[in-house]
Amino acid sequence: SHRYRIAVIPGDGIGREVVPEGVRCLAAAAQAHGFEFEIAEFDFACADYWLRHGEMLPPDWREVLGGYDAIFFGAVGWPEVVPDHVSLWGSLLQFRRGFDQYVNLRPVRLLRGVRSPLRDRQPGDIDFLVVRENTEGEYSSIGGRIFEGTDRETVVQETVMTRIGVDRVLRYAFDLAAARPRKHLTWATKSNGISITMPYWDERATAMAQRYPDVTADKDHIDILTAKFVLRPQQYDVVVASNLFGDILSDLGPACAGTIGIAPSANINPDRTWPSLFEPVHGSAPDIAGRGIANPVGQIWSGAMMLGHLGELAAAAQVVAAIETVLDERPEVLTPDLGGSGTTEGLGAAIAAEITAGESRQRGTHA
Ligand code: NAD
Ligand code: IPM
Ligand code: MN
Repeated sequence: SHRYRIAVIPGDGIGREVVPEGVRCLAAAAQAHGFEFEIAEFDFACADYWLRHGEMLPPDWREVLGGYDAIFFGAVGWPEVVPDHVSLWGSLLQFRRGFDQYVNLRPVRLLRGVRSPLRDRQPGDIDFLVVRENTEGEYSSIGGRIFEGTDRETVVQETVMTRIGVDRVLRYAFDLAAARPRKHLTWATKSNGISITMPYWDERATAMAQRYPDVTADKDHIDILTAKFVLRPQQYDVVVASNLFGDILSDLGPACAGTIGIAPSANINPDRTWPSLFEPVHGSAPDIAGRGIANPVGQIWSGAMMLGHLGELAAAAQVVAAIETVLDERPEVLTPDLGGSGTTEGLGAAIAAEITAGESRQRGTHA
């Protein structure tokens, strides 16, 4: 049977609470579908490696992690002790760039059993993919500070868009849209106000659209796009955005679909030169860490995306189905963000049990 080598980085805060539930569900899926995981855990976190070394990662992190089939990541961040830009630029953002994970794929779906804060929304009304550019754009390290401490103090940070960088994420998004039933793509822009980079983004998107005649493509400025996510989420199918706009849309979308606690993401290196990284959209949530009440679904669903990336499509689909069944049929295990009073472990264990039960039910039907 196939054996996958996975690097697991639980990280900080609720990362340490939800990752074990993600691993539990991956183990259940492996057992049910006849493959194996070989898991190596790494302590690359603020409240761990950083405390001992004053760095988030060892200098040879690319060699240490580069040979794994995938990275399963929780969240990092301990803002009371380590400034966020130090911890995030010291780890997660290094992985995205160093492993050239230029696509951040973030599905947004209103699942059965979850209530949207938007009025009258049913499962099926919200079902789209945010494709976030993940290696350049507004997240650049080009800039600086001058006249520090004087009244002329000035800070500048550049936005970087390269033709290769823009075209490759657009191509990925158009390919995805072309393979979906609705074949609809929206690109987020702000070319009315940001007058150099965003018109360039529009220009490349318009050129790419010409190569995909079957895809209906249009653009929305980011300001009205956020309003339409709330007012008319049903009209979106694939939404492609620059790094910062994609970041914002991928918290707003899941909030419209009930809670950011369920939102998954895949940081993908489509060339497969390097491992891809799977993590929930949310962070380390210091406000609820240590209480055992974090929603593990974002982590578990990210595990399903990892299974899909590894080629275990049946297992991936089954994990998502198990998540939805449990959310819909087991209100007693739902965590507080879903309106319940359950625990991280209770919800994780229920989903793992449903993965196992679902597989034996299926085997029963086929026999
Ligand atoms: P956050 O996502 O950690 O939390 C935002 C809010 O959502 C909080 O009220 C939190 O309790 C709630 N929440 C988040 N995940 C939840 C879950 N699974 N279940 C229930 N509630 C959940 O964002 P933040 O507060 O902006 O950031 C906190 C720290 O995490 C910071 O250090 C930040 O830099 C870091 N962060 C890390 C990542 C990452 O590693 N990928 C992502 C985002 C933020
Ligand atoms: C995310 C996070 C990160 C980002 C932060 C923690 C740097 O918000 O993965 O969405 O902005 O990309
Ligand atoms: Mn974010």
